[in-house]
Amino acid sequence: MGEDAVSVGIDQIGVYFPRHVLSLDRLAAARHVPEEKIHQGLGCYKMAISAPWEDAVTLGANASARLLAQAQVDPDEIGLLLAATETAVDHAKPVSIFLHDLLGISRNCRVFEIKHACYGGTAGMMVAADWIRSGAARGRKALVVSTDIARYPLRSSAEFTQGAGAAALLLSAQPRLLALDPISGVFAKSVYDFWRPLDKREALVDGKFSVDCYLEALSGAIADYRAALNGASQISAAPFHKQLAALLYHTPFPKMAYKAHLRLLDTEWRRSGMLPTDPAEEAERSYAALVEPWLEAARLVGNIYTASLYLCLAWLAERAAERFEGKRIGLFSYGSGCCAEFFTGTMVPGSAGVAARIGVADLLAARQELTVDEYEQFASDRAEGGTPPAPDGGFCYLAAVREDKRFYERTGVSG
Ligand code: HMG
Repeated sequence: MGEDAVSVGIDQIGVYFPRHVLSLDRLAAARHVPEEKIHQGLGCYKMAISAPWEDAVTLGANASARLLAQAQVDPDEIGLLLAATETAVDHAKPVSIFLHDLLGISRNCRVFEIKHACYGGTAGMMVAADWIRSGAARGRKALVVSTDIARYPLRSSAEFTQGAGAAALLLSAQPRLLALDPISGVFAKSVYDFWRPLDKREALVDGKFSVDCYLEALSGAIADYRAALNGASQISAAPFHKQLAALLYHTPFPKMAYKAHLRLLDTEWRRSGMLPTDPAEEAERSYAALVEPWLEAARLVGNIYTASLYLCLAWLAERAAERFEGKRIGLFSYGSGCCAEFFTGTMVPGSAGVAARIGVADLLAARQELTVDEYEQFASDRAEGGTPPAPDGGFCYLAAVREDKRFYERTGVSG
């Protein structure tokens, strides 16, 4: 980690998820599953449900519009626009170009879509950070939008781990929120843990295997991060949980973050040879202090795939940025298939002022509960587009699909 490297990182985060929400207590009752299995076994309580007038474009545009308004950024300052999604709306026309149009971003902007399951958003962020570090940005900023709708078949065991939402990241030099360290650890391996054939709307998953793949990738990414450190001064040989102020993990369901934390500790204890006298007690204590407080939004929104990790970051920033200013945190991103990355960054002094505008708690408070029948109707509804009742449309909505072309409308609300 060179002391003289340009500071690059996340300047602001914009988050958005649908106004409709399903209580998993209701779903558990309808599916004859014990509530404790969902609350304690998975750590889930509610999931965001998308309406027919919402898709990866509208969710991403809403998150981005909120970000641009909060950060007071002129769309002309953006020279790179990346959309990461695994629920794209077309095989050729990218989500990013719809966002480019809806947000009024400059014609002189590089625009493309990225796919690698839930890892796509982190891949985009790393590309954007390198673009800025390289000087190619010429002082401009990058907008990286992670946006997804997680859908599994009705009545499958994965049904409780759905969700929908987006996180937009503004990447810049001299960021106001999180300065990224220029090193990270990666791990990639071809596995069939989770996939979605081109003709299917719902994902297929080998659930238990996917958990194993996630954990193997975590160990691999941590080992690579340690190798990449190569004596850099900021991170010492002590296990990560002793020197990082928080650890955020990709959270398909909150219990996965718990399993991930145990794996991180085990990997770090083995490497350092610093096994505590009571590993179980240290694991519980560090989970409660470093991980658990930042899972609340994920418990109430569900899996939002590419945006999941960044929802945890937004929650940490919104709830406690002041406490973390000047402190280093660790983040782990996993995408099935698989590719994973472990990276670190420092919350910038003064970031609490920026973070106070994210507004996740306000979005959570403004939701409307669905019955299971209404949820099933939304889930099976193949009609795409419609006119949302105000204010459900947010900044924009999918008005119609005609001749396989998608038509979006702005509502006049500015994010
Ligand atoms: P399941 O069939 O519900 O699993 O599927 P289970 O029967 O093992 O139960 C889950 C937990 O509940 C277990 O705890 C049970 O003991 C517990 P664990 O052993 O894991 O600690 N349990 C109870 N606890 C309290 N009271 C009870 C009770 N009964 C059972 N009465 C699974 C769970 C996660 C596999 C399923 O929901 C699924 O397939 N989800 C989708 C896949 C997924 O999220 N995988 C995660 C890793 S892969 C990933 O993160 C990538 C992804 O985001 C996609 C991408 O990258 O694009 C998915």
